[in-house]
Amino acid sequence: MKSKILNILKSSDTYVSGEEMSKKLGISRSAIWKHISQLKNEGYVIESITNNGYKLIETPDILTYDEISQYLHTQFVGRNILHFKKIESTNKYAKTIANESVDGTVVIAEEQTAGRGRLGRQWVSPQGKGIWMSILLKPDILPTDAHKLTLLTASSVFNALKEYKLDIKIKWPNDILINNKKVCGILTEMSAELNKINFLVIGIGINVNIEKSEFGDDLKDKATSLKIEIGNDINRKKLTAEILNNFESLYLQFLKNNDISKALEIARNNSALINNYVEITTPQTNYVAKVIGIADDCTLIIENNGKIERLISGEVSL
Ligand code: BTN
Repeated sequence: MKSKILNILKSSDTYVSGEEMSKKLGISRSAIWKHISQLKNEGYVIESITNNGYKLIETPDILTYDEISQYLHTQFVGRNILHFKKIESTNKYAKTIANESVDGTVVIAEEQTAGRGRLGRQWVSPQGKGIWMSILLKPDILPTDAHKLTLLTASSVFNALKEYKLDIKIKWPNDILINNKKVCGILTEMSAELNKINFLVIGIGINVNIEKSEFGDDLKDKATSLKIEIGNDINRKKLTAEILNNFESLYLQFLKNNDISKALEIARNNSALINNYVEITTPQTNYVAKVIGIADDCTLIIENNGKIERLISGEVSL
């Protein structure tokens, strides 16, 4: 109902009376007033004048379904958005609601108080400054193919960022860099049996409007944001939708024909690693190797001491 009221206000440039809305929606004027108060609480600036009605003056910079849907062209990804002002971690929450939530549900928070990165690292997620979201998926694929979706996600984010004409690179398997600094990280988590995935949670963190001064000393040289690179604020609503649009298009192709070629092409053509010497850290050891390419199964092809090897996941530093 709140969304319906918002839509009426959005599509009118003049005042809409409470009576008109109550007739249209079949609810009382006091119910209308209650929803308007809720919208105001969310940050909508709504002017109300006695005998005239309500007028929407300003929409807040928040990543709710009401604000994102105008840019969204998907069939199912992001059609159920659970939005939080503050949460510990969208990945953590998505896992708790996974069993009873529909495929393609997206959990988005304006702020994470315990955002998590790979290898148990912390992910800085200040309020309203980034896109902190998790996509919940229930694909009928083998658990051994799940890593492909991390690469597919990286390629979707790359596609969505392409329009900013920056030096953007994909650092296999799960980072996006701008001018060699990290702007986005992806954390894929899975619940599975040997031959069946129960669900996957793909967490995406993008530093959008973070200022340089907001990164701690440990991150200043390694991390960046779109705002730092471009010089002005970026529309988070549109970017969120663009990522989901690109993701669904690549994902449907993958599910339908087991075809990951488009995502692979993007990851190969825009790789930060191919032809470079990198340091590879595994739980057992670390060593330097040359990156040769990305194989059709999305593993990294490396040359280690003259031997060609494949890496399915791992910590790779340039
Ligand atoms: C990494 O580069 O180490 C992965 C970072 C992933 C961060 C995102 S933000 C949304 C989601 N919720 C989390 O707690 N983590 C992921």
